[in-house]
Amino acid sequence: MNVVILAAGMGKRMRSDLPKVLHLLAGKPLLSHVLETARKLPSSRLFVVYGYGGEQVPGSLPAADVTFVRQEPQLGTGHAVMQAASRLDNAMPTLVLYGDVPLIATATLQRLVHSAEADKLALLTTHLRDPAGYGRIVREGEKILRVVEEKDASANERAITEVNTGILIAPTVLLKQWLHRLSNRNAQQEYYLTDIVAQASADGISIVSAQPDSEWEVLGVNSKGQLAELERRYQRHLADTLMEAGVSLADPARIDVRGTLQCGRDVYIDVNCVFEGEVVLGDGVSVGPNCYMRDTRVDAQAEIRPFCHIDGAAIGAGALIGPYARLRPGSSLGESVHIGNFVEVKNSHINAYSKANHLAYVGDAVVGSQVNIGAGAITCNYDGANKHQTVIEDGAFIGTNCELVAPVRVGSGATIGAGTTLTKDAPPGSLTISRGKQTTINHWKRPAKKE
Ligand code: UD1
Ligand code: CA
Repeated sequence: MNVVILAAGMGKRMRSDLPKVLHLLAGKPLLSHVLETARKLPSSRLFVVYGYGGEQVPGSLPAADVTFVRQEPQLGTGHAVMQAASRLDNAMPTLVLYGDVPLIATATLQRLVHSAEADKLALLTTHLRDPAGYGRIVREGEKILRVVEEKDASANERAITEVNTGILIAPTVLLKQWLHRLSNRNAQQEYYLTDIVAQASADGISIVSAQPDSEWEVLGVNSKGQLAELERRYQRHLADTLMEAGVSLADPARIDVRGTLQCGRDVYIDVNCVFEGEVVLGDGVSVGPNCYMRDTRVDAQAEIRPFCHIDGAAIGAGALIGPYARLRPGSSLGESVHIGNFVEVKNSHINAYSKANHLAYVGDAVVGSQVNIGAGAITCNYDGANKHQTVIEDGAFIGTNCELVAPVRVGSGATIGAGTTLTKDAPPGSLTISRGKQTTINHWKRPAKKE
């Protein structure tokens, strides 16, 4: 089928320079949600009608399988579909989706498509307790007569709770005829797509309706308030899905997933955690309160303590991270590694059973197993122009407050004395130390304040 996604409106009520369909829901532009759903429909040709904000919409969502059609000026939803009309294949029906109705589900669309058969106009409608702002479905008995926009509706019509979700499917040849006959004599002086319903009715074409599985699928985003409300409804749905799969959530109202979160068995997630991109938590993983995780894999039984910021990391089984740890992209930690408070790790491999428990920076390093990195130890990986590597071999002990000036290597089993500034490789098995000699000055007197 032809799928036309309307995304040209400016979204006046958003009060934003960003075109409405580019605002984010669960970390993704509204329009991306619709495109992903549309792609799941069989043999569809995708069209996006854009306009407000110039090339921002095609520019930020380039896609080889989408034909972008510009609507300039934006004279209404009917006018928007008209812009794509010449490119629609008459041999297939046309489905119209809205870029600002992001959560429509594939199963619902399939039902709508099915109900239209080959020659009917099918509308997706639903009953809302508060129908304000939506077009209303006017019926005579069972029969659909027309759709009336709220701004054009009489008091009686406004009392109708069955609303137009905007989503419809029509035989393409008829759609083109109806679009051609639209007028803009209405409250908003726009060419309403919804006016094709009255035309179909007058032409004796049968009009059917289908309903979504859940209400949130058809909620539109017209304001920041509606965007926030839909985000909460969607997040609650994602939380319910996680719990159904066996994940324990301290509070399903206080988790945000902006991407995909895949969990093993007996995963526990405390309050106020945010997951972005692709996050995988293995069996028995627990995540403490107030953690942020993005594009990260955590293996079985690892424990993420409160207040961690983890991005682009791989965490081994049984590891202990945090509280207050920061793992940056390229951090990969082996089994049972401990990363404690105020420790930052970047682009480093740390092997099994190694520890950096307090106040350290490990960047561009390869750290063996059973290594102990003391409090305040720093890899000086950057010389102001280039990054260099630090290698710490198995079983080494880095004393507190050491600076390892890269490129540098600490041999296996070496001990680096506290306070050392290491500028040359440290041989394995020995103590290496660089430290000013300690002296005591006897009979020294503190200066006293002059009278
Ligand atoms: C529309 C429907 C209304 C329905 C509601 C459901 C019409 C006339 N009204 O109203 O019956 O209940 O959606 O959410 O269709 N757009 C364009 N070009 C334009 C105008 C709009 O591409 O010239 C796009 C917008 O970007 C948006 C969509 O069409 O994605 C809907 O436009 P909007 O102005 O939000 O329509 P509503 O008033 O919500
Ligand atoms: Ca809308």
